[in-house]
Amino acid sequence: MFGMMVVTILILLTFIMSLWVWVPFVPTPNKVVDHMIKLAGFRGDETVYDLGCGDARMLIAAKKKHPGIKAIGYELPIGVWMLAELRVLFSRQKVDVRLGDFCKADVSDADIMLIYLVPEVMNTLKKKFDVELKKGTKVISHGFAIPGKEHVLVERCELPSWNFLKPPKQKGPRVFVYEW
Ligand SMILES: C[S@@+](CC[C@H](N)C(=O)[O-])C[C@H]1O[C@@H](n2cnc3c(N)ncnc32)[C@H](O)[C@@H]1O
Repeated sequence: MFGMMVVTILILLTFIMSLWVWVPFVPTPNKVVDHMIKLAGFRGDETVYDLGCGDARMLIAAKKKHPGIKAIGYELPIGVWMLAELRVLFSRQKVDVRLGDFCKADVSDADIMLIYLVPEVMNTLKKKFDVELKKGTKVISHGFAIPGKEHVLVERCELPSWNFLKPPKQKGPRVFVYEW
């Protein structure tokens, strides 16, 4: 009995610890996801990546809207990856969620990148994109700009306010569009 409890606690601890990584899992609000998909301007046959795909919501939503696309995501902490696999399973969409570090992924076949990361990784990512992305690949970034790369468009995505008495001064997160 005691042994079972220890094993359960260890499994739970491993799962919880696996959720922690230098870029935390913070999901993009669904309204922003829809906005990013619109800005990506899918034709319907592209290969799209989400580097650090979280629960795979962006890829699932894109695949639902454009069934002909190839959707690939990378996720590093095993707990978050399992969450993504579960969500993909329940969505019945063909989304390829890979367990691994996106820095080591070959993204040279990408037509569209949907990302939501942190400013600290943007420099590394730009270097990777400069080497690997083909000309014309669209990169849609939620929240953060890519330093040293000029965006073709930046828009704010207005989110509903939960506080009617004190509406937010800023009008929601920015979404940056780049063309490589
Ligand atoms: C801010 S969340 C965004 C999740 C999802 N893209 C979304 O917009 O809802 C960033 C995700 O990147 C993942 N991540 C961070 N570093 C990673 C790496 N080197 N390789 C793969 N995934 C990583 C984190 O685990 C986290 O789930």
